[in-house]
Amino acid sequence: MQSQAPSPDDLGGVDATPRHVAIIMDGNGRWAQQRGMDRTWGHREGVKALKPIVKESSRLGIEVLTVYAFSTENWRRPLQEVDVLMGLLVEFLAQETPELRDEGVKIRTIGDIERLPDSARRSLDWAKAETAAETRMVLNLALNYGARDEILRAVNRWCRDDAATPLTEECLAGYLDTAGLPDPDLLIRSSGEFRLSNFLLWQLAYAEIFISNKLWPDFDPEEFRRAIRDYQARHRRFGGLG
Ligand code: IPE
Ligand code: IPE
Ligand code: MG
Repeated sequence: MQSQAPSPDDLGGVDATPRHVAIIMDGNGRWAQQRGMDRTWGHREGVKALKPIVKESSRLGIEVLTVYAFSTENWRRPLQEVDVLMGLLVEFLAQETPELRDEGVKIRTIGDIERLPDSARRSLDWAKAETAAETRMVLNLALNYGARDEILRAVNRWCRDDAATPLTEECLAGYLDTAGLPDPDLLIRSSGEFRLSNFLLWQLAYAEIFISNKLWPDFDPEEFRRAIRDYQARHRRFGGLG
């Protein structure tokens, strides 16, 4: 039987698929403002862009997709914008959790979610419980997440529980919100900004970085595959000569 040549767009089965991809979903506000609309409309469209990327990640065999949805600094935004973002989170979870579960996606979070509104916390508890048994892929939502806050919470917990043992890299990693997950292999940021904005400062130590000029609501599976292809053409050295 003749095997079919893979289309250049189809990455399924290609080696060196990143195990963990992290995305800074940026540019919703500008996307809306360019269209003469309120920033919150951009957030609404931005949420719609996420599902196809989750599906594509699962199709490509990516194990973990971490998305930056709300930072510890995003509380500085107008209350109305924050309220819309929290409402969109609840809506997204209510609408998408059953399908995510059916596709084998487990939902987890990083960030200090105790500070989120009750409605958001209840939705997250429900979505996590619904998907707890799934093993195909992890969708990791970064909510009220800041890397400095995460590291401080981790060190404080270590001081409380375990300070008699020396703090090694493995030990600290075990106290971070990402405990048990591999470090991201690839970081994607949309909207053409070249900064980390307090995202995964510890875990991104050796991640490859891809900056997309697309604003997040325009970020589609084709652009995602472009990032993965770019990653696959890189030579990771981890400080050695390899
Ligand atoms: C990303 O889009 C979403 C969040 C930070 C919650 P922005 O709201 O930052 O959009 P821009 O960067 O202002 O265009
Ligand atoms: C980072 O984007 C946070 C999220 C995407 C949730 P921001 O728009 O908040 O980052 P800055 O302010 O441009 O650095
Ligand atoms: Mg932004």
